[in-house]
Amino acid sequence: MATMITAEFQSCFIFLLLCLFSLLCYSLLFRKPSSRRDAYDCDLPPSPPSQHTKLKDSQVGRDLPQSPPSLPIIGHLHHLISSLSHKSLQKLSSKYGPLLYLSIFNFPVVLVSSASVAYEIFKAHDLNISSRDNPPIDESLLVGSSVFVGAPYGDYWKFMKKLLVTKLLGPQALEQSRGIRADELERFYRSLLDKAMKKESVEIGKEATKLSINSICRMSMGRSFSEESGEAERVRGLVTELDGLTKKVLLVNILRWPLEKLGISLFKKEIMYVSNSFDELLERILVEHEEKPDKHQFTDLMDVLLEAYADENAEHKITRNHIKSLFVELFLGGTDTSAQTIQWIMAEIINNPNILERLREEIDSVLGKTRLIQETDLPNLPDLQSVVKEGLRLHPPLPLMVRTFQRSCDMKGFYIPEKTTLVVNAYAVMRDPTSWEDPDEFKPERFLRQEEERRGLNHIAFGSGRRGCPGSNLATIIIGTAVGTMVQCFDLSIKGDKVKMDEAGGLNLTMAHPLECTLVPRTNLPFSNLQVQSL
Ligand code: HEM
Repeated sequence: MATMITAEFQSCFIFLLLCLFSLLCYSLLFRKPSSRRDAYDCDLPPSPPSQHTKLKDSQVGRDLPQSPPSLPIIGHLHHLISSLSHKSLQKLSSKYGPLLYLSIFNFPVVLVSSASVAYEIFKAHDLNISSRDNPPIDESLLVGSSVFVGAPYGDYWKFMKKLLVTKLLGPQALEQSRGIRADELERFYRSLLDKAMKKESVEIGKEATKLSINSICRMSMGRSFSEESGEAERVRGLVTELDGLTKKVLLVNILRWPLEKLGISLFKKEIMYVSNSFDELLERILVEHEEKPDKHQFTDLMDVLLEAYADENAEHKITRNHIKSLFVELFLGGTDTSAQTIQWIMAEIINNPNILERLREEIDSVLGKTRLIQETDLPNLPDLQSVVKEGLRLHPPLPLMVRTFQRSCDMKGFYIPEKTTLVVNAYAVMRDPTSWEDPDEFKPERFLRQEEERRGLNHIAFGSGRRGCPGSNLATIIIGTAVGTMVQCFDLSIKGDKVKMDEAGGLNLTMAHPLECTLVPRTNLPFSNLQVQSL
């Protein structure tokens, strides 16, 4: 997968180079006279959306953050499209500093890589960076005008965020949907037990993906996808394809302005293929919802969105595409992220038998040996919680966060131009040696010590501020209970001594060698002999 992505990038790279070279010549020849530096207070309301700013020469070399050496024409593009961009950028920042100014074909990008700069940016400049600029392929559900994750900070975003929190992700909504997750956790356990009994090897990532997709779909749209009809496999395939597109979408976003000028729609065919497949699937589910007879008994997120769609007087008028885009984004942001984290954490636990022992002791002593772990047990399992935090610290599934500076501003004494793309390298922040002891080692016990907790914004796996992840509580529950179940109920063995921990290429942080193991039910647990019913 990684080599495929790299090869595709190489071929489009030459094409891009030629197109952008002509644009660069054009802009150098016809650039406007230099304007005075004009910095605003960053927490002013964002200015109306305008075109992506191309950096004016008058601003280059004045008091911008330091810029590392770059290549002619493409600037620092090679760091962003390298197969492990978060590592390439981490290397750059450890050599040149935590606040850097990069240029991609002369378009400005600010890179943040330390806890202290991240703290300043999310605390003092949060409103200014609370938008991700509107992406370019209008009719697509993934990067079109109807998206939520890419929506500017404004009325539409606030309206949808309120619904997301009240109907799906807020504390009350999570309490109401607890039964669904308990059901799905038991199904996860039974599926593992079935494989263990048959001595089949288990792909942990696949089982975890089923768990997270089923939980999130049942919570948000009242149904999961059928394994028998092949629908579930198709959805998992689409989520994987969606993952593969994220780096391309980032590139399209950063290069949006020159591409628009040149009339180029990069990767449009691939993006539209995945978008159309989701469109077809989600339209079917929307119609099912509209036609269901007991509509008014229990309303899920999809029902509420359909009500708003049908209501002429709704607080905010939304279209069917708004609803579909939101669900595509929930598939992308909510399912694979949790599944990848579960996989990384299990790999770390297998490689650290002392941690496995400690977790088991904790679970057995708190729960006894007569029942399966439940999500209400999590607050009483500090060791398990610290393992989840440490897994997310070392292996954040979304290592790079992208926002846009709506206005020019001053930061740490440097000038940041309006419409500069902001990239926060969460991977580098969470391995920053100035805020973490032994940053590259898996040491969950660090979170049991108070001082690690007090170091503010050094743990940003879920981002921060207004646009931080609204699904963090749900994700922590799904990950905690899945890891807890495997630790509590099974002995895990792998081929070889240690799990290989290499990272695959791509924007999402996935394992290059997906974790496969054989499970053996722990013999001293009475419930491990539960009859496996057909699932
Ligand atoms: C391990 C699991 C997860 C991780 C590591 C994660 C991480 C992130 C990150 C880093 C962001 C961007 C934050 C920023 O820019 O500051 C984000 C945004 C988002 N996440 Fe998550 N996420 C996870 C699970 C979930 C789940 C389970 C859901 C919902 C079902 C979800 C829904 C969202 C949404 C809707 C946004 C966009 C928020 C906005 O733009 O206002 N995420 N997530």
